[in-house]
Amino acid sequence: MLIGADYYPEHWPTDRWPTDAKLMREAGIGVVRMAEFAWNRLEPAEGRYDFAWLDAVMKLQAKHGIRVILGTPSATPTAWQIAKWPDLLPVKADGTTWPFGIRRHYCPRHEGYRDACRRMADAMARRWGRSKQVLGWQIDNEFGGIDFGSPCYCPRCVSQWRAWLRRRYGTLEALNAAWGTAFWAQEYTAWHQVVAPMQPVTHQNPSLHLDWRRFASEGMVEFQQVQVSALRPHLRGQFISTNLMGMFEDLDYEALAAPLDVAGWDNYPIWAAEAVDPAMGHAVTRGLKQKNFLVFEQQSGPSGWNAMTGTTRPGQIRMWTWQSIGHGADAVLYFRWRACRFGTEQYWHGILQHDGLPGRRYKEVQQVAREVARLSKTLDGTEVRPPAAIWHTYDANWVIRFQPGCEKMTFWDEAKRFGRAFARRGIAYDVVTPAADLARYRLLVCPHALILREDHVAALRKFAQAGGTVVFTARSGERGWTNIITDLVRPGLLGKMAGCRIPEYDMVRQDKPGQIEMADTGRLYDAFGWCDLVETDGAAVVARYAAEFYQGTPAVTVNRVGKGRVYYVGASAEGAFYDDLLARLAGEATIPMLPPLPPNVEVLERRGNAGRFLIVINYTADAQTIDIATTGKNLLGKGTLGPKIDLEPYGVRVMQTM
Ligand code: GAL
Ligand code: ZN
Repeated sequence: MLIGADYYPEHWPTDRWPTDAKLMREAGIGVVRMAEFAWNRLEPAEGRYDFAWLDAVMKLQAKHGIRVILGTPSATPTAWQIAKWPDLLPVKADGTTWPFGIRRHYCPRHEGYRDACRRMADAMARRWGRSKQVLGWQIDNEFGGIDFGSPCYCPRCVSQWRAWLRRRYGTLEALNAAWGTAFWAQEYTAWHQVVAPMQPVTHQNPSLHLDWRRFASEGMVEFQQVQVSALRPHLRGQFISTNLMGMFEDLDYEALAAPLDVAGWDNYPIWAAEAVDPAMGHAVTRGLKQKNFLVFEQQSGPSGWNAMTGTTRPGQIRMWTWQSIGHGADAVLYFRWRACRFGTEQYWHGILQHDGLPGRRYKEVQQVAREVARLSKTLDGTEVRPPAAIWHTYDANWVIRFQPGCEKMTFWDEAKRFGRAFARRGIAYDVVTPAADLARYRLLVCPHALILREDHVAALRKFAQAGGTVVFTARSGERGWTNIITDLVRPGLLGKMAGCRIPEYDMVRQDKPGQIEMADTGRLYDAFGWCDLVETDGAAVVARYAAEFYQGTPAVTVNRVGKGRVYYVGASAEGAFYDDLLARLAGEATIPMLPPLPPNVEVLERRGNAGRFLIVINYTADAQTIDIATTGKNLLGKGTLGPKIDLEPYGVRVMQTM
């Protein structure tokens, strides 16, 4: 287990480097990430690589036992590269060009730049690929982060888009049929006529939009792969990763993470009023490889570019760190070591202020680094083993984003409603994509599984047949893989396994909610959003609508499939509904639960040969009292803890259960 920092030696005079290394060691920083934006210093002129400065920094750090994660610098093409290749700058949907001096200002399909990235990765890997000091590699930085996946509309991309479609569909007839171009005279009669969508879905074809999004995402994945392939042959015992962004949804992270050894992400919880936000980001990252992960960047000060957030409250840095570890992070690196005096991120603070003096936040990092170091041996090798998962396809997420279908629907809002309910009972969940091994879970929630492939349907059915519980929510089964609405009775391909039919639906605004009533308890809940009016066709009724002309119509049903169950939840509802539904689901699936916890308190569990460890987090600024229904050894203090625990604001407890 390692605590680390993101460090930019190129921003500071060389005579400061020894002080930084010493201060880092004294703070308990065991790893630094460097170089991900330093192309200008690594290759100041074409073909002239200069790695000596980075070697010098690493040598100083080695003296203090500090390990290194190296970033490949492809997120920031240099001025000389843009001068050489003006067509490297990516083009926006409106035809204008992104300027130099931002980040990720490159077309991912530019052959010259791809080759430069390959050569840079190759040279760096030859230099450091066998270094014992180097733990691993971060490719690029936050892929996708300009604007909605930053699809590039340059002529190269548009012509490759047509070739991509041709490979995918073979003939124009097939493409026209797959997209439904009969609508508004959109039928194409030659490949060069096919456009890249430049208008929102209200004006251009939804299937065109979905494929364009897939094509854009694949461009980034290929761009990354060039560097994975260049690094791989030279590395000895070092990992390859990239810093993802949790619930970021512009790129297909399933494909992006596939060739990586370990997943990692950047966690900035200062914007997150609720624990579920960082928790969901952790669950996404952990779910991508179904194992522990890294936090490449974590909040360690007030953040902002032109305008700032408030500063971190005493105890927050420590609490976020333990929260990350509790969710399965094996390393947490703080962004950034020291606030920069110049450039866009002057107000993006880090462990040290601009003045470089150790202050309040430095001391807090030192405290948590000491705690982590003390427990590192115990916790190394332990992992989070969630009994439940949330099923996510980027394709469905994109479709919901193009066409929310009703006011404010998003994939993550529905996922978070379940996430809060899971956290309330101390149940861990991964967010997984279709590539995951589902056999590890007993409960699988599929929020708005809007577009599905037949093999997805088969995998979900198999999961239920083997004894799992599957939950679909509103709009599930609506469309096929090319984004055309099914002509089957809804929920389309899911009808048989869900044992229901949905002849009609309504849309109910969140500020004027309807109601649903749980059949067994009679309890009422506000319900809203897309509301599927369900008819049973083999399933049993779990809840009914309790308002409107469809009062009494089933809203939630459950069907037995093999040894398992398939739920259909027709509407979104207030939090209490998810709490009650989840208690039922967990009970049926024999998933252990804690007595209900207050909101924004998490009880997280890591397990391994060394035993079972609970990490308890008070995400709030208020004192909390909880009941964890067990006792354990207090690992950050003395004595035992539980079953009742009093938590101070931002309080943390780590315990080993007896
Ligand atoms: C992250 C990014 C960092 C830094 C930070 C603060 O998203 O990876 O390089 O820019 O935000 O803006
Ligand atoms: Zn392009």
